[in-house]
Amino acid sequence: MNVEEIFLKNRHNKSLYDFLIFFEFSKPHLHRLIFAIVCGAILAGINGSIAWLVKPALDYFFIHKTTVLLITLPLGIIFLFFLRGFFTFLTNYLMASVGAKIVKTLRKVIYEKLILLPMSYYTRTSSGSIVSKVFNDLSILHSTVAHTIKDFFVEGATVFALAIVALTRCWDLALLSFLVIPFMVYAIGKLGALMKTTSLKTRKLISKVTNILNESLIGMKVIKAFNMEAMMSRKHDEALTEHYRNTMREVRIDEFSRFMTEVLGGVGVAIILLYGSYLVTSERMTASSFFSFITAILMMYTPIRRLSKVYNNFQQGRAVLERIRSIIFEKTERPDGIEKKLKGHIIFENVSFKYPATNDYALRNLNFEIKVGEIFAIVGLSGAGKSTILDILVGFWPPTGGRVLIDGIDINSLSLKSLRSSIGMVTQDAILFNDTIRANIICGKPDASEEEMIAAARMAYVHEFVVEMPNGYDTIIGERGVKLSGGQKQRITIARAILKDPAILIFDEATSSLDSEHELKVQESIDKLMSGRTTIIVAHRLSTIKKASRIMVLNKGMIEQIGTHEEIYQKSHTYRELYQLQFGKDSYYN
Ligand SMILES: Nc1ncnc2c1ncn2[C@@H]1O[C@H](COP(=O)(O)OP(=O)(O)OP(=O)(O)O)[C@@H](O)[C@H]1O
Ligand SMILES: [Mg+2]
Repeated sequence: MNVEEIFLKNRHNKSLYDFLIFFEFSKPHLHRLIFAIVCGAILAGINGSIAWLVKPALDYFFIHKTTVLLITLPLGIIFLFFLRGFFTFLTNYLMASVGAKIVKTLRKVIYEKLILLPMSYYTRTSSGSIVSKVFNDLSILHSTVAHTIKDFFVEGATVFALAIVALTRCWDLALLSFLVIPFMVYAIGKLGALMKTTSLKTRKLISKVTNILNESLIGMKVIKAFNMEAMMSRKHDEALTEHYRNTMREVRIDEFSRFMTEVLGGVGVAIILLYGSYLVTSERMTASSFFSFITAILMMYTPIRRLSKVYNNFQQGRAVLERIRSIIFEKTERPDGIEKKLKGHIIFENVSFKYPATNDYALRNLNFEIKVGEIFAIVGLSGAGKSTILDILVGFWPPTGGRVLIDGIDINSLSLKSLRSSIGMVTQDAILFNDTIRANIICGKPDASEEEMIAAARMAYVHEFVVEMPNGYDTIIGERGVKLSGGQKQRITIARAILKDPAILIFDEATSSLDSEHELKVQESIDKLMSGRTTIIVAHRLSTIKKASRIMVLNKGMIEQIGTHEEIYQKSHTYRELYQLQFGKDSYYN
């Protein structure tokens, strides 16, 4: 099932289209759906026959005055109710499973979509709102299929069957009592439109709550260290209150449509009693017919009440569809391009870059070349655009102007897969998954053998602390590696890059300083990593700068100087200041 196509086909966003979307989604489970509808139809038939049988039963008792039915009737009733329970179970079970299957597919599709979306998506969308869509919203969708659509068919068919019973018992009385239905439909329709907008807002508000929770969990240390508990609680509470208000608005809309149904239902019953008693007293209708009729009408009460909610619930489901649609229609990163194993000759040609959210250029007209195997350092004040250069090189962002060539090919026409498999990236903040140490290293090269993995770990000085751990490489490192020190985390990311063995290495040094022993270890592992490949390094450490054959000084997105340390130390004011600031006045090396 191609979800994108389904959404595209139904992009008009009209009620009917959305209704059909649910069918398109159910298609792979059509046999279940049909089976459920058949069971629902049987259920409706059973309900109809219960009302229908009231007349013959009463006739036997009151007119024929026989006692034959004294035993068979109760048994028959038990049997009918047994059947009713059985088919109710089947219908509910099947529809719930169709709903759960659809939700499962959508979760899968959304996840697969999310991991293909470009970084630009993630800078403008909060992770909390995505989590909220995948969890809160999709559970609403489950209920739409499992309850709303089921009710539409089952309760709809039941009302239909009961209406037929009522019509056969006394058609004019039945038609008279149906007069209230158009009023109900009108009232419910009006409220349904209101429901959709309210529901959409509720979804947004719950995603705000999820967002705060998500952020709090990530930033728990900061919250505690800065005594932000009360402030965060207040923020959370405000979002909750707003969500509560909106939820209650939904409840009011829902209950008001129920109220309307009940009042109009009451009007219907009053009409029946008025006209019905006239019919019975004037002997144009038998009492048993009347009872059968009244049973049918009263049995309609629950299904109609449920049906009256169908429309509102369906509108809630549509609000969810709308939110999912917004993810489905996001453009993914380009899937194709030239496949090539790269050597690592990098040219930046007049490259400029502006983040979509800002007005100011982060990079302006950069021109530089890095030869194969060269170690090239970038230095500059914070916010100069160093990390941005690296992000562009990995294809997280396309340059706004100019182009980047690797081995003479514009990276815009390279396949992202080729590009990224040729580049090893060690980020400024060590990014680790809550998994074993092995899994975190091996993601550099998923098919690596245990020996290769351990060899990489040894080179990055990971092995020495791993062997001290009781579970060794099977140690789970906790979310984002909370159970490790900063230096250990970094060394794991370095081991990962060593294992990947890329032609180009880009390395954003962590700004946080490590203690000297760790510093030395990390440094040695970095040296091993750099040897023999094109390396671009955002340098914060003297020792790293020393290794570089050339250094580029970046100032507010522009190149101030490129050259060896000696050259730029003489020429670049920024470099001199930066250098002395970071490494001390006397640390100039020769
Ligand atoms: N996702 C983003 N959206 C908008 N602006 C951004 C984004 N990321 C970075 N910037 C801006 O772009 C500029 C360059 O940022 P960049 O991260 O490249 O700096 P940096 O040189 O790596 O700094 P540092 O040494 O602190 O890591 C900064 O002014 C920053 O505010
Ligand atoms: Mg940076």
